[in-house]
Amino acid sequence: MKLRLITSIALIILLQAQPLKAENGYDLWLRYLPVANASLRSQYQHSLSHYFFPVGSDRLAAAKNELISGLTGLIATKPQMAPVAQSGLVIATIDKIGPLKKIVSDSSLKTIGDEGYIIKTVSQAGHLTILVTAKTDLGILYGTFNLLRLLQTGKAIASLNIVEYPKTMYRVLDHWDNPVRTVERGYAGFSIWNWHKLPGYIDPRYIDYARANASVGINGSVLNNVNANIQMLTPAYLAKVKGLADAFRPYGIKVYLSVKFSSPVELGGLKTADPLDADVKKWWQDKVNEIYQYIPDFGGFLVKANSEGQPGPQTYGRSHAEGANMLADALAPHNGIVMWRAFVYDDKVPDDRAKQAYNEFKPLDGKFNKNVIVQVKNGPIDFQPREPFHPLFGALPNTSTMLEVQLTQEYLGFSTHLVYEAPLFKECLNADTYTQGKKSTVARILEGKYNAELITGMAGVANIGTDLNWCGHPFAQANWYCFGRLAWDPEQTASAIADDWLRMTFTNDNRFIATMKQEMLQSRENTVNYMTPLGLHHIMSANGHYGPGPWTDNMSRADWTAVYYHKADAAGIGFDRTRTGSNALAQYSPEVQQYFENLETCPDEYLLWFHHLAWNYKMRSGKTLWDEMVHHYYMGADSVKHMQQVWNSLEAYVDHERFTAVKQLMAIQYEEAVRWRDACVLYFQTFSKQPIPAGYPQPEHDLAYYRALRFPNLPGQGVN
Ligand code: GCU
Repeated sequence: MKLRLITSIALIILLQAQPLKAENGYDLWLRYLPVANASLRSQYQHSLSHYFFPVGSDRLAAAKNELISGLTGLIATKPQMAPVAQSGLVIATIDKIGPLKKIVSDSSLKTIGDEGYIIKTVSQAGHLTILVTAKTDLGILYGTFNLLRLLQTGKAIASLNIVEYPKTMYRVLDHWDNPVRTVERGYAGFSIWNWHKLPGYIDPRYIDYARANASVGINGSVLNNVNANIQMLTPAYLAKVKGLADAFRPYGIKVYLSVKFSSPVELGGLKTADPLDADVKKWWQDKVNEIYQYIPDFGGFLVKANSEGQPGPQTYGRSHAEGANMLADALAPHNGIVMWRAFVYDDKVPDDRAKQAYNEFKPLDGKFNKNVIVQVKNGPIDFQPREPFHPLFGALPNTSTMLEVQLTQEYLGFSTHLVYEAPLFKECLNADTYTQGKKSTVARILEGKYNAELITGMAGVANIGTDLNWCGHPFAQANWYCFGRLAWDPEQTASAIADDWLRMTFTNDNRFIATMKQEMLQSRENTVNYMTPLGLHHIMSANGHYGPGPWTDNMSRADWTAVYYHKADAAGIGFDRTRTGSNALAQYSPEVQQYFENLETCPDEYLLWFHHLAWNYKMRSGKTLWDEMVHHYYMGADSVKHMQQVWNSLEAYVDHERFTAVKQLMAIQYEEAVRWRDACVLYFQTFSKQPIPAGYPQPEHDLAYYRALRFPNLPGQGVN
């Protein structure tokens, strides 16, 4: 009781000291409010009020601007410039730090490479100085953002010794944005690229976008949808693309374009787009040369070929490698790359969709040019709430491979469900492929640990739009944030990243942090439970992928239905991918195969992904499969209710505007979670013929009701 009283008094004092200003979320994690802890603030003031930061490029100017606005906000005083010896803060490339250079070891300089940096507390002229140094201006930019993060998250600065560098090379956001500003699978408004006003008008939002990306180390932006519109390659649009490239350049972000493989025909008027045709090669070379006239540091192309109706080399009897290499040849003289997607499957191929990408690409290992990187989704189907890792990871030892994850929540509740995706990404990154022996995790493969010749990277399908708060849900910003942090270093933990993000986005108050971090870390599992527990997948509605649709059985392609994946019948449920079924398991290493094939070791989370099991199958818990499935559906919906209660208890820590936004979104999430639960349980019950076990409330409506629901005009149905 006494403790509670003291806590309440402390809270009142805290609130009086710093009224919570209404915030709309636009500032993301770069809010730079005054450090709330007065003693820490005065320590920071004491150390950082005088700085040395020479500027000789646009990039350094961008870094310095960020530093000044960040420090002015955080320490509530505008810092003053001073010579090195009188500065508590020195930020400069290694060649500009004078005698301080002695303090930096050659080995750490070697380690940081061209993008990394060193942050070190050193003693000079009788006082402590924070030194941020790097070999390049880009390293300085990243180091400046890291320093600001340390201050934003309330870290001690008296003995810093940080040596940081990115573990992957290409850290890109893929925007599925169309020239008409719709966004395929976008749930945060329209495209932020205002093509009509470009290149004349540079929306300040582009700069804020670039700042946010640079703050987490993202260094590339694919501007348009993988289902590409040929207009993007016309001179008028290239001039607009140049406008964006110029705006992003100071922040170390290169632009890339998605291209349509049939462009030589559709745009160039050629008779064919055959990659081995001399005229086709010439057309692409000319187009690439033209692009580099506009944008000398253009990043390259992203290509979706022979997938979901897109044209590609196979249309002409050529392989993915032949298609990719033709484009790579055109880009190579300019140091551009091709990101070639492995998301290919064909309903005419009579094999499990989960096997098709591997079947196509495995035989092509080693056949791609050096500047081609194959972009592989985290799982073999399509960004489902849970999938096992893609069997192509580790299966292409001689081919550069990058991971593609989806930040926009196509299958995770759009922008109304709070789902922190870092645990999902980490599940893939931490997965042991065993392809190079024990501990050859996806992360290590992506980092190029087994073949130094390869280029490396990670791509995130962006969740950004014109909504004031960028991502549609205040917590969806965390997915943009964690993507950047994990692309920089796949070994970081979901928990540490959530900790930083919460501190920067909301408050450093430990009670808020501990409580909300727990909810964030649990949030993805909640969603798996009320959508696709126990390894179920692809049972969403065919209508815009919104809400449940396990009954979907009549589409233009069988592999777009739900029944193809859950295979529920009177005997049981699940997709048999063992040797008695599609044998997709054979695409993994023997260790992984055995692990998933053996029912003793296969985790419950993946059970129905790999096995078709009887409704009365005895689970580890002792429950039957049917009872366990029902339990998960109810647990999932209940956990959202719990999250609502937790959020309500934290009202004092969050400004009214964002508190109310999240509260309202959670209420929608709960309603939708209950609908998922009830619709799925009722539908699967038609096969199991078993009752919902005692103790669980009965669904409010019958199955016919859920099947009849229609949701017109859903977001994310991009017209391109
Ligand atoms: C999913 C998504 C499509 C997208 C495709 C892709 O299937 O629903 O909208 O085009 O992925 O990744 O290419």
